[in-house]
Parts: sequence; structure tokens; C-alpha cells
Amino acid sequence: MKILLLGKNGQVGWELQRSLAPLGEVIALDSDSSELCGDFTKLGGIAETVRRVAPDVIVNAAAHTAVDKAESEPELARAINALAPGVLAHEAKQSGAWLIHYSTDYVFDGSGDRPWLETDPVGPLSVYGSTKLEGEQLIRQSGCKHLIFRTSWVYGARGGNFARTMLRLARERDKLSVINDQIGAPTGADLLADITAHAIRTAQQRPEVSGLYHLVAGGETSWHGYASFVIDFARLEGVELKVAPDAIQAVPTSAFPTPAIRPHNSRMDTSKLQHTFNLNLPLWQAGVARMLTEILGK
Ligand SMILES: NC(=O)c1ccc[n+]([C@@H]2O[C@H](COP(=O)([O-])OP(=O)(O)OC[C@H]3O[C@@H](n4cnc5c(N)ncnc54)[C@H](OP(=O)(O)O)[C@@H]3O)[C@@H](O)[C@H]2O)c1
Repeated sequence: MKILLLGKNGQVGWELQRSLAPLGEVIALDSDSSELCGDFTKLGGIAETVRRVAPDVIVNAAAHTAVDKAESEPELARAINALAPGVLAHEAKQSGAWLIHYSTDYVFDGSGDRPWLETDPVGPLSVYGSTKLEGEQLIRQSGCKHLIFRTSWVYGARGGNFARTMLRLARERDKLSVINDQIGAPTGADLLADITAHAIRTAQQRPEVSGLYHLVAGGETSWHGYASFVIDFARLEGVELKVAPDAIQAVPTSAFPTPAIRPHNSRMDTSKLQHTFNLNLPLWQAGVARMLTEILGK
């Protein structure tokens, strides 16, 4: 199997380099790859890359993920999140390749407190959310064989992430304020990559699985719950912290105004994915504990 991986150095792209390797030959690109174009602002170059590589599977981990910045550069966000995936889908349709793509809970308006189903009406609140939604739509309209995984609150052990930021602040400050009215599930890039590899295998045997799936870790929490888990874990591991155990204050989203509006309810119902691919999604705490063990070097 020949796999073209785009966005190889992002959180998910990095883990995909590992998880896709046993499936076959992986040609992995990022935006400044030289021999083959991996830059999503160059739509002709992206189409040419797919034709030259002639992959059996295209895995797209590239995206404009700077949610606040996207508000002031909507055209760039649209090119990367919608138009380029549309080109990949067109090329996949022409060649019969599969397209694997990631989307987001930000396609929803965040209302209510029920986990979102794949069939629920969308209503993005931000440029990021609406461009990611358009990307999904272009893929679905192309008629190519595809797997779109909507996920949320993604972290990787490599590079910056929310847990690292909380650990740094907990060392520097004696009290912290963290949002407690956005609810979701922190989801590891490693989990996403492993499930992607498993789903590609299944899709090779059962093309009828083509479609849209919600993919997040099990359970739910708020950013405040997530931060408290991270800090409690570090304390138990003997990390010296300035913040006192009872000094992590829960605050509403309105305490931290941002250019992009975030959804309050990011709960995702993953029954379709678990049932179709015969998978079990571990609780978010398991993945976060593992990531913390890695970054704390314990
Ligand atoms: N992070 C989250 O919390 C989250 C939540 C829900 C869904 N998702 C989705 O999950 C997927 C993976 O996200 P992630 O967390 O791995 O994102 P990430 O770490 O920000 O990685 C995004 C990748 O896209 C690449 N990229 C940016 N501009 C590009 C361009 N013009 N051409 C080609 N590549 C470009 C970046 O490469 P450069 O470094 O070269 O710019 C980077 O490697 C995305 O589809 C994202 O929308 C993420």
C-alpha cells in the first residue's frame, strides 16, 4: 500500500508517521517539502503531488489550527482547511484513492449538553469552524472514498500543549484561573493516529465504511478539570509546584475573551466509530497520564 501523508510535522502528523509505517510505503510531506509540494496554499502543486505519487491512501493531517488567528486571515484558513482538502478529494475521486481527513467539534454551535451525533445539525461559531466544515462538505460532495474523523482538544507529547502550559503556570504562580464551562474530552494525537491506521486496514476490506465519524477519548471534563488532573498528577509525581491544591479557580469563558468564539458543549458521541470499527475508546485520563509521564520524564 502506498500512503501519502500531508502535514507530517503537526501533532497528529507526527504520530501518523509512526502508526502508518507498518501499513506500507509512506511518503510524508509538510508545507516546506522541496521535491514534492506539500504546501496547501498551492492548490495546483497539491494536485500535481497526488498525481505523481499515485497513492492508494491520502492522509491529510495539515490544517490551519490557529483558531484565533483564523478570524483575521479567513482566506488563508479557507485555502488550507477547505480548498486544499477539496483538491485532495477531487484527485482521490479521479484515481480511486481513499482520503482520510480530520475535522473538529467546532463545526457545532456548542449548545446543549448532549454529546453530538454525526447526524446533528452543524452551526460553526468561528472562521476555523466554518472553514473546517466547508472542507468536510467538499470531500463528501466529491464522491471519493473517505474517512472524516471529527475530533476535539487534541494534545501530543511533542511540542507545546495545554498540559505543559498548566505545569509551567503551576510552577510560577500561587493561583490559577481556568475555564470550567467548556466541556469536552482531551484526545491524544497517538490515539488518533492508531485508530486511523486500524480504520485504513478495515476500509481496505470494507469500502462501505466510507463516511464521517466522531473520534474522541472516552469520558468528559472541563478545561478546569483537565488542568486539575494535570497538576494533581504532577504533585503526586513529586514535581515542585508553587500553586496550592485549592488555588485552581474555576472561571467562565467570559473571563478570557478571545477573537474566536469557542463552543461550550464539545461532547461527541463516538458510538458509530466504536461499532463500525469494533474499537474501544479509552478514558481521556489514561492518555493524559501517559503523556504526562513522558513529558515529566518519570
Ligand atoms: N489541535 C486540536 O485541538 C484539534 C481539535 C479538533 C480537530 N483538530 C484537527 O486535527 C487535525 C490535526 O491537527 P493537529 O492538532 O495535529 O494540528 P497542528 O499540530 O497545528 O498541525 C497542523 C499541521 O498543518 C500544517 N500546515 C499549516 N499550514 C500549512 C500549509 N499552508 N500547507 C501545508 N501544511 C500546513 C502545519 O505545518 P507547518 O508547521 O509547516 O505550518 C502542521 O504540521 C487538523 O485537521 C485539525 O483541524 C485539531
